[in-house]
Parts: sequence; structure tokens; C-alpha cells
Amino acid sequence: MIRKLDPSISNKIAAGEVVERPAAVVKELVENSIDAGATAITIEIKDAGKSYIRISDNGSGIPYEELPLAFERHATSKIDSVEAIYKISTLGFRGEALASIASVSRVELVTKTKNDETGHKVTVNGGVLGSAEQIGTTDGTTLIIRDLFYNTPVRFKFLKSNQAEQSVIVDLVNKLALSHTEIRFTLIVDGREAYRTDGKAKLQNALMHIYGRELVRHMIPVEAKTDKYVISGFVSKPSYTRGNRKYQMLFVNGRYVKSDDIQKTVNNAYKGLTTIGKFGVYALAIETPFDHVDVNIHPSKTEIRFKEPLAIEGFLFTTIKHALMGVDLVPKVTLSDKVASVETTTSRISVENRPEPPVRTKESAVYIPDSVQVPVYQDSVKEPEAMLDMTITGDIMAKLDAALTDETFDDLVTDDLITDFFDTQPTPRTDEGEQVALDVTPVELSTLYDDLHVIGTLFSTYIICERGHSAFIVDQHAAHERVLYEQFISAFKEDRVESQMLLQAFVYEGDLASRADQEDAIRWLMRLGVTVEPFGEHAWVIRSVPVIKGVPLSQDTIQSLLDRFEEEKSETLNSHFAEDVIRASCRAAVKARDVLSLSEIQGLFSLLKTLENPYTCPHGRPIIIEMTEKEFEKKFKRIQ
Ligand SMILES: Nc1ncnc2c1ncn2[C@@H]1O[C@H](COP(=O)(O)OP(=O)(O)OP(=O)(O)O)[C@@H](O)[C@H]1O
Ligand SMILES: [Mg+2]
Repeated sequence: MIRKLDPSISNKIAAGEVVERPAAVVKELVENSIDAGATAITIEIKDAGKSYIRISDNGSGIPYEELPLAFERHATSKIDSVEAIYKISTLGFRGEALASIASVSRVELVTKTKNDETGHKVTVNGGVLGSAEQIGTTDGTTLIIRDLFYNTPVRFKFLKSNQAEQSVIVDLVNKLALSHTEIRFTLIVDGREAYRTDGKAKLQNALMHIYGRELVRHMIPVEAKTDKYVISGFVSKPSYTRGNRKYQMLFVNGRYVKSDDIQKTVNNAYKGLTTIGKFGVYALAIETPFDHVDVNIHPSKTEIRFKEPLAIEGFLFTTIKHALMGVDLVPKVTLSDKVASVETTTSRISVENRPEPPVRTKESAVYIPDSVQVPVYQDSVKEPEAMLDMTITGDIMAKLDAALTDETFDDLVTDDLITDFFDTQPTPRTDEGEQVALDVTPVELSTLYDDLHVIGTLFSTYIICERGHSAFIVDQHAAHERVLYEQFISAFKEDRVESQMLLQAFVYEGDLASRADQEDAIRWLMRLGVTVEPFGEHAWVIRSVPVIKGVPLSQDTIQSLLDRFEEEKSETLNSHFAEDVIRASCRAAVKARDVLSLSEIQGLFSLLKTLENPYTCPHGRPIIIEMTEKEFEKKFKRIQ
């Protein structure tokens, strides 16, 4: 029942602008439909929503007597006490949306509950409620919003171009549809159906309807739970990335939300696996008891705060890391041109006789099913190239935006959490009916470098090996770099970093840390193998430095490490230090063009077997790639 909230409650609700653009109207109305228990929702927009927005649902409907209240500010059926604000289970709770929308547009509402014999229609113009009339209709609610901001021309003027506003709406509807895969969503743009989802409660299906098959093919399922959190969804293989974070989607208790902390956590899990400046794609749902998240933070309800942020971040990080490392990440390389690699893609897909789903050709564009055949793999053609895009120009280190997974891991994850879920193996899904085959081959990391028969070395850099029906090519420098890096990190974790006394100590001039933090700083540096002693008021003597494989970190590196103490806290230092280690590992590693003997190669492989990540060097470039016999046969035209 809709009730007016007592001011003692409404005062506690984050207040502010509710509708500032058409997408906000769509969001509020669709969320109302979801809250009303709809199983089918249709969203229709014209003119980027500026002149027309229609949202129809088959949900509970609004009882006739409550219609006037629905448009009143602070009138809601969703909460009725202050305590309820701290355990919100619905998407709406402020009782603001309809009132705000109705005050800046012309609204037409048609609704029917299953108890009402007929439906009712009311109109509200600029907030003024007209009288209700009876109308024949099915159970559910339809809201039509016309001429948004007609009575607030200044706001209208601030709207962006139709193309821009429309793409915001489409992006939003995509995410709403993915947040509730049990609901059938239909999106109609300017009279044409853009897409519909099947409501089968399968994220994989919804992703395919919305973003296309190619994306789904590169996804790895993620599933894990503790007593407080259930994480499910998909993360892309590190070889499938985008240049922006738009395809990073988070749903918390069925709400599409944005969380910088969670986003950072996931991106940290990808660190070292993707090339710099590229972002993994993910759609992740977190379920947690309602009193474990606070949604009453911002009027837009897209921000949340977890009650125990470190616990969820740690759990999420480990879960994703585990998922990423649990499948075969060796890039399969083709010798062939684009067309051939597209063919490979096609052959993996098993979709039952069904019309091709609409294709997204440009990121910002809407899906418009076209009678003209659009090649489905248009988007994917670029991917094999992207996968092999190993050239990193400029100063890599400068671009490394902080953070090293291992340290973050250390900070965030308690042992309990790790043991708790490490048993849960992600299971590739086998859905019935229409589906895309996920290309996730489980892999035992320790066996990746087993039984590789070394054929020889190419260009004194690439070790060529054979196993079964594949050739494997290992970049010796990248491999060794990763080995040294992981060795150093584990030495650091176990407090056994090798350190070397300097024949000639050097003086660092600076403050190291504020007085209070100095002890901490000194202890921390000691763990890293750097011994410092105070030297007068604002200077320090450095007596020893860490060594990686006999190569001491240079004075410059130490200097820049110490410089950071002045400004930063130790967490960020951890990650900056990682860069230094990467740099040092890189310097100490065997170079491309160093000739390795067979026994040295075998030694390297046995070290690779012990690594946490034997796929990529610390910069994210591949260590090993695979080329199948089939690819060779194709190239030599033995097979088509
Ligand atoms: N599509 C719908 N189906 C059924 N009831 C609806 C629908 N849309 C709105 N209502 C009813 O109208 C009330 C007011 O909606 P409104 O969106 O203004 O507020 P709210 O959803 O309660 O909170 P919020 O402002 O956070 O969205 C809701 O509480 C709900 O009872
Ligand atoms: Mg609402």
C-alpha cells in the first residue's frame, strides 16, 4: 500500500535531483516495474526519450484508490520505518520518482491490479493530476512520458544531442536487462525493436541478446559463495579486452550499481594479465543480505556502500583471480589472415535454429535488427589482432597505473576466505536451448609446461616446442622476467628478500615520512631489503639494497622509492614498489638474444611450472602462445 512517509523517515533519505535526463526517467520507471514483480517489461523511446518514453509492465499494477498518492512526493509502498532504510530490498524506496517525473512532463498512466475489475487511466500535466477514467486493459502498468522538461526550458536546453542521450538510454536498458535476466525486456527505439531478452534467467543468454555472441564466447563463468556473499557472473578472458570500462558491469542484489572500489578490485585481478590501458569485460552479480549494503547514499541510487568493504573486495579479488587462472589462457595464434580466424570463431558456436540476433556494430549505436545481413562477427575480426598487440610504446612504467595484484591480495584477503571458497570450482555452464559455447578449457597450471619437447630457439629469443598437435612458442625474456618477479614477491612475503650491503653507502635527503610514520617506514623498507638510518634532521643513510638474481636495485630506483614515502601511505607504496620490482626483474632477466642451452631452457620451464601466473610477464605480455597443427595445415592448404 502506498503511504506518505513520515518526515522523520523522509528526512533520512538522500535527497536531490532525481530526473536530469531522459535516461533517468527510463531508469526510475523500469525499476518501478521490476519492483512491481513484472516478468515482462517493454521500453519504448522516441526522439531519444525527449518527446516520448513508454514503459509497460505486467506487474502488480496500482490500486485505483492509491493513484493520487503514487504521484505525491515521499509516498511509497516500499518502506514504512527508519529501520527499513538500512535493509532495503526493493530498487525504489524514496517515493520521489513519479512525483519528480510528473512535475516536468506530461504523464499518462494506465494501470490495473488483478483485484480491480477494470483498469484506470490518469494523466498528470506538470504535476497537476487529472481525473481518472476507466479503461479496459490487462494487468500491469503502462506509463507514457511526453515532452520531458516542456515546462523547464533551461533543463531541456542542457540535454545532449539525440544520439548521445539515446546511447545513454540504451546502455542503461542493457544493464537493467542484465540485472534481471528472469524478466523479458524489449527495447523499441523510434518504432523499431532493438532487441529482446528471453527472460530465462540466464546471464549468458542475456549477454548474447544484448552484446552478441562473440563477447560471450570469450567469457569465463564465475561462481563462489561464503555465508554472506554469493558472486556469480562472467569475466572475460584477459585476451578479450576493451579500451574503456563501459563493459564492466556490477549488480548488487539485483541493482545495477557503480562502485569504484569494486571496479578497482576486479581490474586489479586482471593486472599483469592484460596489456596496459585495456580493461577486462565483466558482468558480475553480488548477492548479500540486505542489511549488508547501504543504498541510501546518493539520490540516483546507483551508488552503494558495503558494510564490510574489505571482506567483499578480498573475496571478489580471489574469486576472479581464481577464475582467470583456472582456465587455459594461452593465446591460440593463427598464421592465417583475418577471414580464417573468423571462421575458427564461427565453428565453435552452437546455436539452435534461430534467426541471428541483432548485431551491435558501433559501441554507441543501438541494436537495430536489420533485414540486410550484417556479418555477425564484424566486431570479432579485430580481436585476434588485439590479442597479439604486444607492442607497448613509450615508457611502460610510467603507464603502469599503480597496484600489484599480489600485494593487494595480501592486504585484502584473510586466510579463511581463501580456504573457504577455493574448493568451489567454476563450472562451465551447459544451458539448454539456445546458447553459445564458452571456450573455457580448465587447466592445471602446473602441467602447462610439462612434456614440452624443445625443438630449438628462433632468433635467439623464442623457444619453439611441440606437444601433441600443437606448437608452443615461449618468449624466453618474458618467461624469465615473470620467474624473477614472482620469486622476489614471494621472498618479500616470506620476509626473506636478499639484500646486499653497499660498498659505498649513499645519503638520501628528504623526510621519508611524517615523524609518526617513520618507524613504520623504516620497518617496511627493511622487509624490502633496504636498510636506512637517520642522518641528521632531514637525511638518511642507505646501507643496503635488495637484489634480484644478483642484480642490486639501482640507486635511482631506491631514491624514487624513498621519494614516495613523503607523499604516500604504505598501501600505495606497495604497488609502486611492484613497478620497481618489475623494472628490476626486467633488467635482471635473460635477454632476448641471449642464447640458452637446452638444460637452461629446461631449467626455465621447471621454474615456470611453479608460478602463480605462467601466462604473462609482469607487463602483461604473453609468455607462451600456441599454434595448432590445424593452423599449419590450413596455411599449407592441406585443409580448407
Ligand atoms: N510500474 C508500477 N507498478 C506498480 N506500482 C507502481 C509502479 N510504479 C510505481 N508504483 C507505485 O507507486 C509508488 C511511487 O513510485 P515512485 O517511483 O515514485 O516511488 P518508489 O519507487 O517507492 O521510490 P523511488 O522514488 O526511490 O523510486 C511506488 O512505491 C509503487 O507503490
Ligand atoms: Mg520508484
